[in-house]
Amino acid sequence: MERARIRVFDTTLRDGEQSPGCSMNVQEKLRMAHQLDRLGVDVIEAGFPIASEGDFAAVQAIAAVVRRPIIAGLARACTLDIERVWHAVRGAARPRIHVVLATSDIHLKHKLRISRQQCLQQAAESVRKARTFCSDVEFSLEDATRTDPEFLCQVVQAVVDAGATTVNIPDTVGYTTPAEFGELIQTICQRVRGIENVVLSVHCHNDLGLAVANSLAGIAAGARQVECSINGIGERAGNASLEEIVMAMRVRSDKFACHTEVVTEQLYPTSQMLSDITGVAVQPNKAIIGRNAFAHESGIHQDGMLKNPLTYEIMTPQSVGVPDSTLVLGKHSGRHALGRRCEQVGYQFDRRELDDLYRSFIALADRIKLVEDHHLLELIGSMKQPAQRALAPEMKARALAAATSPVASNHHTQSHPSSAFPPAAEIGLPRVVRNMMPEHHGEQEDYLWGV
Ligand code: KIV
Ligand code: ZN
Repeated sequence: MERARIRVFDTTLRDGEQSPGCSMNVQEKLRMAHQLDRLGVDVIEAGFPIASEGDFAAVQAIAAVVRRPIIAGLARACTLDIERVWHAVRGAARPRIHVVLATSDIHLKHKLRISRQQCLQQAAESVRKARTFCSDVEFSLEDATRTDPEFLCQVVQAVVDAGATTVNIPDTVGYTTPAEFGELIQTICQRVRGIENVVLSVHCHNDLGLAVANSLAGIAAGARQVECSINGIGERAGNASLEEIVMAMRVRSDKFACHTEVVTEQLYPTSQMLSDITGVAVQPNKAIIGRNAFAHESGIHQDGMLKNPLTYEIMTPQSVGVPDSTLVLGKHSGRHALGRRCEQVGYQFDRRELDDLYRSFIALADRIKLVEDHHLLELIGSMKQPAQRALAPEMKARALAAATSPVASNHHTQSHPSSAFPPAAEIGLPRVVRNMMPEHHGEQEDYLWGV
């Protein structure tokens, strides 16, 4: 199967920066741009140069030093904006002028106060103007998904004929649905002459929480550039999240006959850098890069994870740059995870002892929600004879070192997890607790007990 190459157009520094609380100064934008370069995006939209002196300076500075990706700047469809973008990006190794004009009747009537005919003319003229400066010109039809499809195709035809090299179809207000958007992209591919000579792009907003699904539908229908942002930041509910799109294509490569050049191991560091710079935290349950994306609290899940991470994780944390999965100890946790954590802080218990500890652990978790290592050590200290089961000091040190990677040892392999320690007998401890239990008959029982 031939896999189409999808160009990743990152708009974190333009559309993303337009979201409340996310504005960045020149130095911060430069830092992010270098990281986006390491991430391997194809295009960095560095800003909207006409908007402010600072934005102009940021685009110019990025164009001067970030040499691998295309550096784009946004312009409205007028000469002043286009010239300003050109001055900002002209120093880039690969400059792009990105021109935008709204095409829906709502925008033409209430915002621009121009007719469809005037819109057609202005679109083509702006592309011709931009082409006098730069051979790489992208044209965006703002509010495309609320534009009459007949008229939309006419505008796309006009800008293709005028020399646009990329044509972008934005779902500016996050209104479309995957099936509808896929159909729209297909219609454009079928009706516009010469569309095969330009790159068709999608740019989806998340007002209905469909930005990623709509972008993927656009790609499946023939788009070859996707516009997106780190952590999904952008106007209102944000843009399609870059990390989600990239990983959906990678994890479900059986469904998407395409690929990107993104270095996925850089996703988490990039996300962290952005929230560090903007001070805007990522929601804990955010897919791919949220704090809980590879964290497990419930006993059933922890038990599965300890046996084989494939049970509850569809990608490795390392594949997106997250150091490791974590087992969080709370009131939903089971004995299996509690036992493993005890081992990691230096203690090993037989089944009855662990049952006792588990009861006091659950009572504590009910009160304080999250049980951390120091709480656990206090609980162990209050047990009757914990000392006889304490690991030897050198083993304790190794166990504590391993405690930072609780499920790392066998991530996504088919084998059973190996302990963080050598066999218990080697260090004078009872054999592995499970095997000691006469009343313990099998995996299913272990599964029930572990929860
Ligand atoms: O959402 C939008 O329509 C835009 C354009 C500038 C591409 O951000
Ligand atoms: Zn947008």
